[in-house]
Amino acid sequence: MSSDWTPIALSRDVPDGVTRAVCLEGSELVIWRGAGEAHVWEDRCPHRGMRLSLGFVRDGALNCLYHGWQYGASSSCVRIPAHPDLTVPPTIKANAYPTCEAGGLIWVGKEGAGALPALPATTTPVLSLAVATDGIEAQGLMRDLDGGRLHVFWHRVRPGKVMLHGVIEGSADVSRVAALMRQIRTQYEEGVAA
Ligand code: FES
Repeated sequence: MSSDWTPIALSRDVPDGVTRAVCLEGSELVIWRGAGEAHVWEDRCPHRGMRLSLGFVRDGALNCLYHGWQYGASSSCVRIPAHPDLTVPPTIKANAYPTCEAGGLIWVGKEGAGALPALPATTTPVLSLAVATDGIEAQGLMRDLDGGRLHVFWHRVRPGKVMLHGVIEGSADVSRVAALMRQIRTQYEEGVAA
């Protein structure tokens, strides 16, 4: 599976109008959604460094909590409330990363990333779960279930901590699948994963 793209959250955990802080390999990111579209940016306002994940979404733009600078979907600053008549220089923009959604997940890509890996067409998100380990086997670990299949994706938060993201292909009892994911967590934390 291509390593150009990393899954960092379940799509349903970032509904419209919401910001969410995520750590990937020690880097602080903000995921936010406006007008239906998900964005992944560095979690840092270009003005004074405030965390953008503490901001709020209005009219498809992300507003910094500190001085209210407003960033549009392209990541450019579009409004500075203290200078309402100013045409904001195009160089003022948040640091945005390639972002896409597929398989019920939000993915962040490297610059110039290729195509996303092949994913099941229809999935149901189950849950994201933190695991105290340095990594698990390849993306897309699968476990067959009655009537469906669990796919487990993951991203490394920092050394010693990984976040699993589970989605179901087909149908399965969500509570049973959540229990299976907890089992997988225990296996990795106790170092007995197959
Ligand atoms: S720090 Fe974000 S607007 Fe000032």
